[in-house]
Order: sequence, then C-alpha cells, then structure tokens
Amino acid sequence: MPTRAELFDAYALHGRDGTCVRMNFVSSADGAVTLGGTSGALGGETDRELMQVLRTMADVVLVGAGTVRAEGYGGLKVGAVDVEWRRSRGLDDQPVLAVVSGGLHLDPADEVFTEAVRRPVIVTTDAAAARDAGRFESVASVLPCGDSDVDLAAMLDAFARRGWTQVLCEGGPHLFGALLESDLVDEVCVTLAPRFVGGEAGRIAQGAPEADRRFALAGVVTDDEGFVFLRYTR
Ligand SMILES: NC(=O)c1ccc[n+]([C@@H]2O[C@H](COP(=O)([O-])OP(=O)(O)OC[C@H]3O[C@@H](n4cnc5c(N)ncnc54)[C@H](OP(=O)(O)O)[C@@H]3O)[C@@H](O)[C@H]2O)c1
Repeated sequence: MPTRAELFDAYALHGRDGTCVRMNFVSSADGAVTLGGTSGALGGETDRELMQVLRTMADVVLVGAGTVRAEGYGGLKVGAVDVEWRRSRGLDDQPVLAVVSGGLHLDPADEVFTEAVRRPVIVTTDAAAARDAGRFESVASVLPCGDSDVDLAAMLDAFARRGWTQVLCEGGPHLFGALLESDLVDEVCVTLAPRFVGGEAGRIAQGAPEADRRFALAGVVTDDEGFVFLRYTR
C-alpha cells in the first residue's frame, strides 16, 4: 500500500500561486460513479486515505448540492496531524466546505451545516440569495455568484479574493460537467476501482455539452487491492 507520505509526494502541488481546481472522483472500472447510490461503496482503504491527503492540501472543498443530498457531508474535518501539516505551511487549520446550489434546496438542519467545524459557504445565484439566504444565516455564509445561473468563474474569483486558491472539488458529476464546460478544471484525480458493476449509474462528468478537454497523465499510483490512482493535469 502507498504510505501517507508517498501520497502527499505523488499529489504535491507545484506552488500555490493562482487558482487551481482539482477534481477527485472514484469510478468503477466500467465507468460507474456510484454503487448502491453512493460513491463510498466503490472506494477502498487507499482511496479514503487519498481523500484525506487531498483535503489536507486544499483551501476549499467544493461540492454540488446533489452530492450533499446523496452522500451527506457532516463534519468535514482534517485530523490533528494534518492540521500540523497545514499550520507549518501557513494554511488555516481546516479547509472550508463550499456547496454549489442554484435553487438553495438545502436544509439548514442538515449535518453538513450543524456538524461543521468551520462555517460552510453556499454558492448560489443572486436571485436565490435574495429570496432565501436568510434561512441559512445561523449556519452558513451565502455567496451570490451570477444572475440566474451560478457563474463558476465568478465563484473562483470570489474564493481567490478570500485567499482560497487551492480548490478540491469532490463532485458530483453535474458540477464536474459544468466546470469542464467552462474550462475551469486544472487537475483530475480519478480512482479506478477493480470492479465492473453494470447498472444504470452515470459517469463522473455529466449534464454539459460534449467537450474535448485534453489533459496530460501526471501520475499513476497502485495499491495491493488492485486500485489504480490516476492524476491528470491540464
Ligand atoms: N464517485 C464519486 O467520486 C462521486 C463524487 C460525488 C458524487 N457522486 C455521486 O453523484 C451523485 C450526485 O450526482 P449529481 O450530478 O446530482 O451531483 P452534483 O453535481 O453534486 O449536484 C447537482 C446539483 O448541484 C447543484 N449544481 C451543480 N452544478 C451547478 C451549477 N453549475 N450551477 C448551479 N447549481 C449547480 C445543483 O443544485 P440545486 O438542485 O440545489 O440547484 C444541482 O442540482 C450521487 O449519487 C453521488 O453519490 C459520486
């Protein structure tokens, strides 16, 4: 199995100047993004470790509202050792969780908010924020970005103004599709699980028009359970 130190090394960032959007997904070998409705069942030990390593490097962990509703995101928190790693590099103790939701169909009583160790951010449209931001006042900050659609480039600019330039996006497929469509993705980390599951599950990027974005293969890690960890950079 790769050690934690080897994962930090294999996924090291080359400087923190400028915004970098890094995606992290797990997929079955036949391309399914879920098994039994969530991604967790596809993953393995190294995949879970890698997720923690990538979170430790991030200023923001970005997710779509569909992923929050399907997976639950209560209590996103890096551990004590990782907090030390962050402090030694001048980062805040914890990354901030940002949830993209056009319609604000989120529950302020959801654990994603009530268990948060750092106040989350909800990224939405100006219209939805004007209508509904008050519901979240006690649990999250609402960031309006775009008139009727969420403007993802404006969102990244707003993050950068807060000093949040390393963005780890954990999905889901519709948010990935939208980021790809706007050509805002710098890096894709894909865990290929040694499973063929068939079924009707979607792919890791969906919902946007076809686009041919070329990436370079920047790294390959394997583990004893047959998982392959691919790192692509733009
Ligand atoms: N295998 C993996 O690594 C992985 C990772 C993540 C998720 N998943 C799976 O993916 C499934 C969820 O898929 P999904 O595509 O629905 O997830 P998603 O992209 O997280 O959520 C879609 C929702 O997020 C909001 N959203 C996303 N992009 C937006 C944009 N550009 N502008 C405005 N709002 C935007 C919208 O929320 P509102 O409806 O609130 O407006 C939209 O309905 C779940 O089954 C989950 O388990 C798998």
